[in-house]
Amino acid sequence: MQQLIRGRVLDFHADPHDTADNHRFWENGAILIEGGRILAVGDHADLARDSLMVIDHRPNLILPGFIDPHIHFPQLQVIASWGAQLLDWLNTYTFPAEAQFADPDHAARMAGLFLDQLTAHGTTTAVAFCSSHKTSAEALFTAAQSRDMAIIAGKVMMDRNAIPAVHDTPQSSYDDSKALIDAWHGKGRQRYAITPRFAITSSPAQMEMAQTLAREHPDCHIQTHLSENRDEIDFTLSLYPKARDYLDIYDSYGLLGSRTLLGHSIHLEPREVARMAETGSRAVFCPTSNLFLGSGLFDAETLRRAGVVSGIATDVGGGTSWSMLQTLAEGYKILQLRGQKLHPLTAFHWATRGNALALGLQDQIGTLAPGSAADLVVLNPRATPAMALRAERAQTLAEELFILQIMGDDRAVAQTYVAGRPQKPRQDAPTGGLQSDAERV
Ligand code: GUN
Ligand code: ZN
Repeated sequence: MQQLIRGRVLDFHADPHDTADNHRFWENGAILIEGGRILAVGDHADLARDSLMVIDHRPNLILPGFIDPHIHFPQLQVIASWGAQLLDWLNTYTFPAEAQFADPDHAARMAGLFLDQLTAHGTTTAVAFCSSHKTSAEALFTAAQSRDMAIIAGKVMMDRNAIPAVHDTPQSSYDDSKALIDAWHGKGRQRYAITPRFAITSSPAQMEMAQTLAREHPDCHIQTHLSENRDEIDFTLSLYPKARDYLDIYDSYGLLGSRTLLGHSIHLEPREVARMAETGSRAVFCPTSNLFLGSGLFDAETLRRAGVVSGIATDVGGGTSWSMLQTLAEGYKILQLRGQKLHPLTAFHWATRGNALALGLQDQIGTLAPGSAADLVVLNPRATPAMALRAERAQTLAEELFILQIMGDDRAVAQTYVAGRPQKPRQDAPTGGLQSDAERV
């Protein structure tokens, strides 16, 4: 059945850094969807037909759903853990919480809650680190598949420098990753990311296993962490004394390329930036996490000028909010401290098409182009009294977007659609369902 979703519709077809012709905006717009996909987008007057079921979100904005390219599934109860920087935070809070995900019942319960939080915040695709237990990835993929939600995930490979309850071995990490790839990669909307956690927790023997997996499955993503924290870098280089720098470790195991996502990428040497550009590897900026863990200030401009494609992500539970809006707010502030700007058009491009580009999935998600998944977020720039007050003085689309970017969170997400299906309870659905021509939500 075809459906018309009505509102003030915005999407991007180019990076605002590159050209002023970067977005399309329909003040009286609509998106025609069927079978979980977008058939057409444009002016309501051009798409309206008597026979269509209409959901009317005016005056709210409708954009492609947010994409979160770096988040930790087993850390949903680690968020807001006090007082530590990266290595202490991992040892004190994170590894013990991840140990619980060996229990399939716990993992299954958390998987549903994890996806609920994502969609409550307008995020329709995430790239997730699971725990080292195969059960955790199975639980997440199973839950995502039942919602027809596109998730990219992998069990972390980690065979040292943590606690025994989260250690695997080189062989078990290979076997479990392989079994998960066979079961889930390309099943429905699920994709697998080969996930050596970071060089500290992977022995050279395990890195070799990651290299073998990457060679055997070149269409899988690879995700890990890079140069987040100064103590982390020192420890890493002591473990791999022959490496030229941190990036060189991943490079020497053949793990760089355009499907590789390098979380944080803060304290980089010029050689590392050049090598990331040369290999097409992606940097992922995690602003709320970088501030919370005191890690450092991401240098978006240097990476962009060098030709490195970057994503922007929450990194829950090091990150302090599930909201990509809050992530954009903290990203704006970090770039201010760097003397750089994050314009609202650039920000909303980044959280949608930009992150899709970083994943190489821009033909499936991140825009409203016909053929893309009907993954949508409906945003209300007047969601709170303070936002409504500020919005009284907003005269342009960019100003409205900036209110969302700085003041928005899940309260500003009026609805989220995953493959055309609404994920939030309707706020004022008429009794009797959707018989009426138009329903305002
Ligand atoms: N480096 C290795 N593991 C992690 C993690 O779970 N969170 C963050 N922020 N950095 C990491
Ligand atoms: Zn992370």
